Amino acid sequence: MSDDGPKREAANAAVERYVVSGMVVGLGTGSTATFAVRRIGELVASGELRDVRGVPTSAKTTALANELGIPLATLSEARPRFTVDGADEISPELALVKGRGGALLREKIVASSSQEGLIVVADSSKLVGSLGAGPLPVEIDSFGWETTLEALASLGCEPELRMDWTDPGRPFVTDGGHYTADCAFEKIADPASLEVEIKHIPGALECGLFVGLARAAVVAGESGTDVIEAN
Ligand code: A5P
Repeated sequence: MSDDGPKREAANAAVERYVVSGMVVGLGTGSTATFAVRRIGELVASGELRDVRGVPTSAKTTALANELGIPLATLSEARPRFTVDGADEISPELALVKGRGGALLREKIVASSSQEGLIVVADSSKLVGSLGAGPLPVEIDSFGWETTLEALASLGCEPELRMDWTDPGRPFVTDGGHYTADCAFEKIADPASLEVEIKHIPGALECGLFVGLARAAVVAGESGTDVIEAN
């Protein structure tokens, strides 16, 4: 199995289990979510899925869905039943860190609008005992970003402005035109409280903590594919 094998396995299993004809589905962003979008595209093209519409979470996913011929809808037109999306970290309670791929604000809007929640697709490397193994992305306004980073630091982390992968001399800019702060915490013991604290900072638009949004996680590893349901 290639390195991408478990991502593909998880994505295909989630589409098989949760995506049915006639539904509106939120389309996630990132390498694992891309496998799910591709699988939906294949099933639409073969006619096995009919009358499906996708709500994309980024410009990149919009372009992919258009290329694959998946009909799209906006949140003004329809609400997804589920969203299928990846995650950077998954806790035992299905609290998530998302956004290292740069799309967390739209991902959170679409996941929160989904009637039956978020279906997480991941390889088993994303399972953690507690969140905070890597930096927590926070989408911030570009105006006054330095003061927003100071406010984030006062919560006990080391924030760093994310730079563009293709042009390291410039800040990374999200689809919404915002910056991202990557915040290194030693450990995130209480994700729900930290989310509230971050949202109190005026320049912090949204954070990559997704608490209470995941309905299930479909996780693939060497021992097979498991579905972990939220309690
Ligand atoms: C995009 O903003 C992210 O939330 C991704 O969904 C997340 O980083 C997981 O990406 P991978 O599947 O590429 O690891």
